Amino acid sequence: MLRFPPDFVWGTATAAYQIEGAAQDDGRAASIWDTFCATPGKVRNGDSGLVACDHYYRLDEDLDVIARLGVGAYRFSVSWPRVVGDDGRVNQKGLDFYRRIVDGLHRRGVRPLVTLYHWDLPQRLEDRGGWTARDTAAEFADYARVVHEALAGEVEEFTTLNEPWVSAFMGYGNGMHAPGRTDQRAAVTAAHHLLLGHGLAAAAMRAADPRTKVGVTLNLSPVVPFSDTDADRDAARRYDGQQNRLFLDALLRGKYPADVVELFRDVTDFAFVRDGDMALIGAPLDHLGINYYRPNLVMDEPGSDDPVRAGVRMPPGVEVTSMGWPVQPEGLTDLLVRLRDDYQPVPLYVTENGAAFDDVIGADGEVDDQRRIAYLRGHLQAAHAALRAGVDLRGYFVWSLLDNFEWAEGYAKRFGLVYVDYATQRRIPKSSARWYAGVIRDGGVENADETR
Ligand code: FCB
Repeated sequence: MLRFPPDFVWGTATAAYQIEGAAQDDGRAASIWDTFCATPGKVRNGDSGLVACDHYYRLDEDLDVIARLGVGAYRFSVSWPRVVGDDGRVNQKGLDFYRRIVDGLHRRGVRPLVTLYHWDLPQRLEDRGGWTARDTAAEFADYARVVHEALAGEVEEFTTLNEPWVSAFMGYGNGMHAPGRTDQRAAVTAAHHLLLGHGLAAAAMRAADPRTKVGVTLNLSPVVPFSDTDADRDAARRYDGQQNRLFLDALLRGKYPADVVELFRDVTDFAFVRDGDMALIGAPLDHLGINYYRPNLVMDEPGSDDPVRAGVRMPPGVEVTSMGWPVQPEGLTDLLVRLRDDYQPVPLYVTENGAAFDDVIGADGEVDDQRRIAYLRGHLQAAHAALRAGVDLRGYFVWSLLDNFEWAEGYAKRFGLVYVDYATQRRIPKSSARWYAGVIRDGGVENADETR
């Protein structure tokens, strides 16, 4: 048995747009994801978050599902356009929903970890430039202050942003996510304004209550050169620079890495960085959240028009999930150890880890997802290896509680511990849910040797 520390936080995670539905109810305004989903060809099958898991109307049932898992914490996000309306005024009904979540969690003995921004920017702000506009960072801080005040005393820990790399480079760079822009200069500008929004929001919440703990969640992955050639090794440096170091160095060293600034020289001179920005962005974090799914094996792509000029390749002979992502748990150990070695100490949480598989309801009515169990077990073993190596890892959150709206993939990809039958909205805990409840009860997982 690999035992985790007694105070290790076991959790599971969701995000507002992916589960809530009720996208036009109780004063919720439109977000960039509503607009993106309504644009033909952007999301598989034309799916949208209009109904999603109907979580807005099934809150109590879902809170009971969470409680039955036995998790100590639940990570969810607040929908900005539900809380601030199109007139820029606070929507009390929207805020009340999040109070109900927090109260319901406390009643069930589950700690809330609140993410303020999981990609659903109000459309009214996108219409004014979105994250390419500096004002959006200030608007984000105002919104953070509102949520913080409403939940004051009930929530100790806030995460400002989820995966700013995805918001910036997939939202504004390759256009695969909302708002679907394809402009490298916009993407880098957005990255800075997202980080500035984090810094301003953190300062605002700490000013309101110095006891507030603030963190941020990044999607990080080890980047491995495809071959030992100088070209591939340099491609890996560039890819790592854009995906990992641009964000890590800004947050944990208060500066952008010189080689990454150089990488984008032809698209931007970084004139959007103003005096004082980096001090705000680099203010000490109470925790860093890591979303880990896979490492990236990277090859030089000299002909690419993307400034990073590097493409991801599949490692041969490795199992893949339904997302086409390779299953390589050892990458999680490498990543955690690297953070410990390269950056100043900061408490770490794995705020997302999980896998999509083509789950089916069996003849007995059960969803027996053995591959997900194997995925999670392998990654917990990898997390434990990092703990043994001295990494300050405080907790682990499975992505996701429920099958849900998987962004550009719509409902086709199922990540949940709990199956959602979208026709009836029935929740069916999968085998992995029972397995995870057992892990939490035992405080650990079996040793890798016993698994074989
Ligand atoms: C992460 C997102 C999360 C989910 C998983 C699969 O990038 O934060 O919302 O879509 O991927």
